[in-house]
Amino acid sequence: MTRIGFGIDVGGSGIKGARVDLDKGDFIGERIKILTPQPATPEAVADTVKQIVDQAEWDGPIGITIPSAVKNQTALMAANIDKSWVNTDAHKLFSEHLGTEEVYVLNDADAAGLAEVNYGVKEAAHGSVILVTLGTGIGTALLINGTLFPNTELGHLTVDGHEAEKYASSAVKDKKDLSYKQWAKRVSKVLKEYENLFWPSLFIVGGGISRKADKWVPLLTCETPVVPAKLRNKAGIIGAAYAAENKLRP
Ligand code: BGC
Repeated sequence: MTRIGFGIDVGGSGIKGARVDLDKGDFIGERIKILTPQPATPEAVADTVKQIVDQAEWDGPIGITIPSAVKNQTALMAANIDKSWVNTDAHKLFSEHLGTEEVYVLNDADAAGLAEVNYGVKEAAHGSVILVTLGTGIGTALLINGTLFPNTELGHLTVDGHEAEKYASSAVKDKKDLSYKQWAKRVSKVLKEYENLFWPSLFIVGGGISRKADKWVPLLTCETPVVPAKLRNKAGIIGAAYAAENKLRP
């Protein structure tokens, strides 16, 4: 029998959910996407999450990612989401809306890291690996021999006088209309800073822009090998479903 789970990825523009085949690490059926309500307050987001679960007719454990550090199921910061998330007990919030205690909330990049190491970039299971998601912000997941060190938030590290995610996210590329070459220079600076602090064995670069990896990954100038994420924008949902199956509340 196939192991089936359900994951939800709360992003700045869309909230997405899908049933996940946990043997293969892929979606079963259609992904459901609803635009993120504005303002994206905890209540409004939880209502949208409920709509997705209802629409999917899912009954079982649910993994949910949010773009915040999550400690003891509480959101601790809010760089790219509504400020009212800070100190929100996310488990309580979603449990109340969904009518189940079987809710597992984790950081979006951490979920992507769990998904990639288990189903995507298999070589990430060995060594010290940093996954970097480049999107609206920059998210990071640190893995040591496949085990996650959660909530690393390296997108907020100061690199060359700039906050990394305000300098090299893919949103910055779009906003400033940077060429791949110009943008890859910025991403290289960020990766080099991580390299000098952590000396990882491998970088995995993810986020929507990893779809065009051939246009910019070869331009990166850091010493550490860099591979594109394999699960791309599915990684958050798959990682969330994986966390729920394994009862992980990092
Ligand atoms: C948030 C992180 C998140 C990343 C990617 C950052 O601004 O602080 O928690 O992982 O964006 O969404």
